[in-house]
Amino acid sequence: MPTGEKISIRKVVIPVAGAGTRLLPVTKSQPKEMLPVGRKPVVQYVVEEMQRADLSEILFVTGRQKTSIEDHFDHDQELVRKLSEAGRSELLAALDYEDTDAGFFFVRQRELKGLADAVATGRNFVGEEPFVVALGDSIIKDSGRGALMSDMIDAFTAKHAAAVIAVEEVPADMVHHYGIVSPKGQASPGEVFEIDGMVEKPSPEEAKSHLAIAARYVFDPVIFEAIDRTVPQKGGELQLTDSVQILLNWGKPVYCMRLAKDQRRYDIGNFESYFKAFVDFAMDDEKYGYIVRQHIIRGLQAE
Ligand code: UTP
Repeated sequence: MPTGEKISIRKVVIPVAGAGTRLLPVTKSQPKEMLPVGRKPVVQYVVEEMQRADLSEILFVTGRQKTSIEDHFDHDQELVRKLSEAGRSELLAALDYEDTDAGFFFVRQRELKGLADAVATGRNFVGEEPFVVALGDSIIKDSGRGALMSDMIDAFTAKHAAAVIAVEEVPADMVHHYGIVSPKGQASPGEVFEIDGMVEKPSPEEAKSHLAIAARYVFDPVIFEAIDRTVPQKGGELQLTDSVQILLNWGKPVYCMRLAKDQRRYDIGNFESYFKAFVDFAMDDEKYGYIVRQHIIRGLQAE
């Protein structure tokens, strides 16, 4: 491909098949990706973020107990008719997200064999094109620019990359929750940089940095070959970090993009970060944010 030619990426794989065991009992009979944060379920933020980056073909990798995700993106004509007849225009507006030209596709991960296996389940859908992976249990919030995904796609094109991976600085006591990368040089906020390795959930002593993989990836289809060669970890799961490490071992160009200062990743997969997400989005609510903030301040003063 000639230098500077813009790659058009249309496809995104959103894995949502995970069991969400860290959120039990909430996730016993419902997907964590459908938990409310502010006024929307988590996965709706993810889909809206993808649509802002012109990713118009959306594949959900689903599994057991996940049909409510499929229902959520259906056009519910009966509900629309009832709300119209009742003159509930403000509630109708809450269903605007249903009106989209995006194509929604669903495939089941038949056994929970880890994130890399979930991504590989999208192989036929992806074909030979570069594609995005966005974890269905993580929201990226920013000051309104919505630029992370487009910036990552631009970097992927400019660098002729095999992978561009979003990363975020986390506190030292959180590194054991995430895949942690080891940057080759400087890694300033908003910048693209090279890495020479990554480790899944290291101890603080093992971690080469505090830069945690932040739920968004752009991949060349060569990742599927790396997944084919990935060895299962204990519990039989295929880790996507191991597959990316294989790309690095093959000398493929893998880059990271550090979230900019106004961007933040909310991981909904554990209670601590779910609670933080819920509180932050509730405090930002256009109508009730002020009341929620007052409520929190009064609670703190009473302590
Ligand atoms: P996690 O590893 O955080 O999800 O995966 P999990 O396995 O559901 O979590 P716990 O450890 O049981 O609490 C991040 C994303 O990848 C998806 C999940 O649904 C989540 O959106 N995932 C994970 C899959 O689709 N398949 C898998 O085999 C694993």
